[in-house]
Order: sequence, then C-alpha cells, then structure tokens
Amino acid sequence: MRSHYCGDLRKEHVGEEITLNGWVHRRRDHGGVIFLDVRDREGLTQVVFDPDREESFALADSVRNEFVIEVRGLVRDRPEGTVNPDMPTGEIEVLGKELVILNKAETPPFQLDEHQQVGEDVRLRHRYIDLRRPEMQDKLRFRSKVTNAIRNYLDDNGFLDIETPILNRATPEGARDYLVPSRTHEGSFFALPQSPQLFKQLLMVAGFDRYYQIAKCFRDEDLRADRQPEFTQIDIETSFMDEEAIMGMTENMIRELFQNMLDIDLGDFPRMPYAEAMQRYGSDKPDLRFPMELVDVADLMAEIEFKVFAGPAKDPKGRVAALKVPGGAQLTRKIIDEYTKFVGIYGAKGLAWIKVNELEKGAEGLQSPIVKFLGEDVAMKIMERLEVQNGDIVFFGADKEKVVSEALGALRIKVGEDMNMAQCEWAPLWVVDFPMFEETDKGGVTALHHPFTAPSCSPEELKANPLTALSRAYDMVLNGCELGGGSVRIHDQAMQKTVFDVLGISDEEAEEKFGFLLNALQFGAPPHGGLAFGLDRLIMLMTGTESIREVIAFPKTQSASCMMTEAPGEVSAAQLRELNIKLRKTP
Ligand code: AMO
Ligand code: AMP
Repeated sequence: MRSHYCGDLRKEHVGEEITLNGWVHRRRDHGGVIFLDVRDREGLTQVVFDPDREESFALADSVRNEFVIEVRGLVRDRPEGTVNPDMPTGEIEVLGKELVILNKAETPPFQLDEHQQVGEDVRLRHRYIDLRRPEMQDKLRFRSKVTNAIRNYLDDNGFLDIETPILNRATPEGARDYLVPSRTHEGSFFALPQSPQLFKQLLMVAGFDRYYQIAKCFRDEDLRADRQPEFTQIDIETSFMDEEAIMGMTENMIRELFQNMLDIDLGDFPRMPYAEAMQRYGSDKPDLRFPMELVDVADLMAEIEFKVFAGPAKDPKGRVAALKVPGGAQLTRKIIDEYTKFVGIYGAKGLAWIKVNELEKGAEGLQSPIVKFLGEDVAMKIMERLEVQNGDIVFFGADKEKVVSEALGALRIKVGEDMNMAQCEWAPLWVVDFPMFEETDKGGVTALHHPFTAPSCSPEELKANPLTALSRAYDMVLNGCELGGGSVRIHDQAMQKTVFDVLGISDEEAEEKFGFLLNALQFGAPPHGGLAFGLDRLIMLMTGTESIREVIAFPKTQSASCMMTEAPGEVSAAQLRELNIKLRKTP
C-alpha cells in the first residue's frame, strides 16, 4: 500500500521513508545508476537505484515502460545542479531500497508523451492507455470537480437529485430515438431518453418543486465536433418560478462555476431576442467575441438587373446581406475561393465580394466581380450603409433567408477566427423570444424547442398565427456554443392540446403518445419550467478543448461506434429469436 502519491512528494518529505505505487513512465540508465520516473494519477517522481543494493538494482534494470511497481525508499534532496524546476516534484528524488514488480506490461501501442503524433483511432482503441496521459487525467478530474460544484450549488438551493428511467417511450426532442426491443412484449420497443423532459415535468406535478439530475441522454443524430450520440445533461426543473427567476438562478450557477474553477468573471449575461440574433449574426447562438455583423441590403438590390441578387431581394422568403471584414482587402484570391467553398457547405451558390481599395475614387476604387452588375450608384450606397474604409472587404450572400443567414453567420466566425478578431475571451448571452414553431422543408410545422414549451400568447392567438407566435424559451450561449436551453412549460391541458393541434398531432396520437402527460395536467399541475445544460460542452469550453470526445472517458466516434469495445455489435441468432426479431438482410 502506498504512503504517498508520486506527484505529492515535496521538499518537506525529505528524510521520510515512503512507499509508492504506480507505473514506470520512463527508465534511464546513467552510468551504472538507474532512474525510474514513477507515475500515478497525481504526477511523477524520480526514483534512483544504486548498484550497491544488488537485488533491487537488478529488478530496476529489468523493468520496462508501463510496468506496475511498488517502491519503498527514502526521500532526499536532489544533488546540486539536478533540480528540475519544471516538475512539481523536481526538488527531490527517492532513493529506491525495495522494488516489487506488481505486473508487467507489453510495449504500449504508443508512447505516452508522444500522443500528438498518434491518430485518434489508435488512442480510442486503447483508451485505457490514452487516459493515463496527464492531459486526459486533468480533464476528467476537472469534470469531476465541476459536477461536484454543480451538485453543491443545486443542493444549497434546495434541488433534489431524482433519477428517471432509461427504458421509456419516445420523448420528442427532435432527434431519432435509440430503440431497445422488449422480450416480454413481442413487437414492442423501448426508446432510450433523448432527455428526461416529461419525467421532470411529472416530478413537478408530484410536488417536488425543485429537481435536478446529471442525466445521460441518447440521440441518434448526425454527429459533429460538439455532439455525441450519448451525452450528459445537467437537467433542471422548478415549480412556481418564471423565466426571469430560472434564468437568474442558472446564470448565477454558471457564473459561480467559472469564478471558482477558473477565476474568470463572466459578468451579467446580456439578453438578445432570437430575431435580432438571426438578423445581426445569422445564428441563434451568436459568438459575440467577434464584432462583425450581417447588414441587410435587399432594399438597395431589388431594382438592379443582376438576378442573382434582385431575385432574393424581391422574394419575401429571401435575404440579401453583406458582411464587412475590416482589413480584409488583403485576403488573397485563394483564400476567397476557400471561403466560397466554405459557404457552399451551407447551400450558398456563390460568395460575391467587393474589396475597398480607394474609396475616394468612387466605384473606380472598388475591386470586385460584381460592381459592374450593381452599377456605381448602388455599389456606393452599399459602401455608405456599411461605413467601409479603405482596406476592407465586403462579402455578400443572396438566397433564401435560411441559407444566407447560416452561410454568412458561419463565415463571420470563420473569418473572425482566421484573422484573430476576438475582442474578449468569453462572451456569454441568453437568446430569448424564440418562435414557437418553424416551417419544415415539406411545408409542415415543428416545435422550435419542444412541444411542451409555453407560448407567450393565448391558445386562440396561437391558433390564429402559429408561425409568428413567440415562446417562453431561452438558450444560454457561450462563445457561439449552445450551452443550455429550456423554457417555461405548458401546465394547462387546453393549451397543450392546442399546441399538439398546431403540430398536426391528432387527438388519438396525442392520447397514445402523451396521454399520461395530458392526464397529469388535469390533476393540479403547478406552473413550472426549467432547462438543461450540456455537461460535455460545458467542460469542453472550460478546458479549451476542440472536440467533445476529449472530455468524455469513453466516447463514440463520428460514426457513433466505440473503437475499443467495437459496439454496436451483432447478436446471436438465439438472442434475436428470443426478441422475436428477424433481420432483413440488405443485399
Ligand atoms: P436541448 O435539446 O436543447 O434541450 O438539450 C440541452 C443541451 O444539451 C446539449 N446537447 C448535446 N450535447 C452533446 N451532444 C448532443 N448530441 C447534444 N444534444 C444536446 C446542448 C443543449 O443545449 N429537455 C430539453 C431541456 C429543457 O427544456 O429543459 C432539452 O433536452 O448543450
Ligand atoms: P456569376 O455571375 O455566377 O459568376 O457570379 C458573380 C459573383 O457573384 C461571383 O463572385 C459569385 O461567387 C457570386 N454569387 C453567385 N451567386 C451568389 C449568391 N447566391 N450569393 C452571393 N454571391 C453569389
């Protein structure tokens, strides 16, 4: 048994006999003396073996990287000139007296200090080795501290941690469900929860008043750098609190967390209506670290000959917008071509631009493939509206509103990052006043948040103008990342039925899928609301990590599989038979 962690030894321990347990990080033979760097989760310590202790010396000579050992020895000052100021334990070393090899190790598939060159697939396949690296240990330790701090905050504020089931009926959060076949109910399936949404609402009906859960959620959706099929929410629900109170309490939780864990003051979070965010930043999660904004210019383009612009300018569902990049005239043709390709991802058919070389010369001083189509007059009016200066570049998007907002919104962030335009390190905000619904591509209507979100109007008004109705939903955004989202819920059965009605969910379907909720709303449901934070995303931001996989111990790949266990896997014919499942072989 250890007496100390390797990483904890300091000058004050000099003269003490200690026992360490850990892994051989590195072994060096220095002219007859053997040095072992021994590692455990707290750090490294250098252990020295002299040849005069023959038995332990011979053993030390035989160990290899990643062997598991126990060492007994004496802590002593390092000899003059060998102190290592870069190591927390660099002032001392341990004179090894006894060494026990607890287990041997094969040569690891990659060196623990060379991970940069190692592909992510190799790291994920041998995750237990990858996780030995101090960076990974630090991140997971940080994650543990964050969940602990959050539990303490919520506990101090009277929240109860209550578990909700994993085997469920489908909860509509907009993604595909992961299904689990039932053996006892032939032909029936459980759905894994996309969130504990309905259960937490029912806990409010049950009178628990304040609930939280660090909850696993499952969504079978297309994966990106900040999405996993299985992820963790800090899930919160309260009764008798309106949106102001809920936002205030959770904003304070995040502020305290950053203050206590990172010594960062996030200040008060500004609020921005959804419509404003889309108009100025082309995004419902604007990254406010970058100052650039989208500017609408459709009114100036409606009458020009150039159809690429005039068409969307006259289309009520179209948008023509400009993005001014200060100092961007220096961008090369090659980079502009790259940006054109980039906006193509969002469906943009092109990326028109104007470089402002010499404004005093009028249109002559503008360099662009489109000024000739715009005409001097329109071009100069646009320059005036954008308040350009020599050396700027202006990008243009013209298309359906969604395409232009998304394309220029994404370009804004890309250019901001490429040109180091961030004006601060942290930019939190709340986005509020979301629409209740949005139109689908097929002309139908879906809930923008989820169908249990309360509208800001009466059922009659909602029915009359569903597409312009606003909801009582709110999202917390940090540096362009949606950290959390929630809403005040519907607690009235008639309102809930109206929402299902607008969504085209028939009475029978509503009864079949959500009958239990509609029933519960009749039995004294209090006004309630809440939200959920994405824990993985929060840790990702707080640790400055680019990929969500880096802050999860055993993540899934982009194709939603586990490289280590090779899940998902095939099952035996007997198991399938028991579940009454017959596989359709794809040819
Ligand atoms: P929502 O769907 O917005 O709301 O999810 C809440 C937060 O969870 C995180 N998140 C994800 N993180 C990683 N991978 C994913 N695939 C993923 N999907 C979502 C995001 C997001 O802000 N029940 C509602 C909350 C409520 O209304 O109380 C819900 O689930 O950070
Ligand atoms: P074209 O006449 O198609 O060569 O286009 C002239 C310029 O307008 C090029 O710089 C294109 O990249 C740009 N462009 C074309 N379509 C669009 C669009 N929908 N939005 C913005 N710019 C576009």
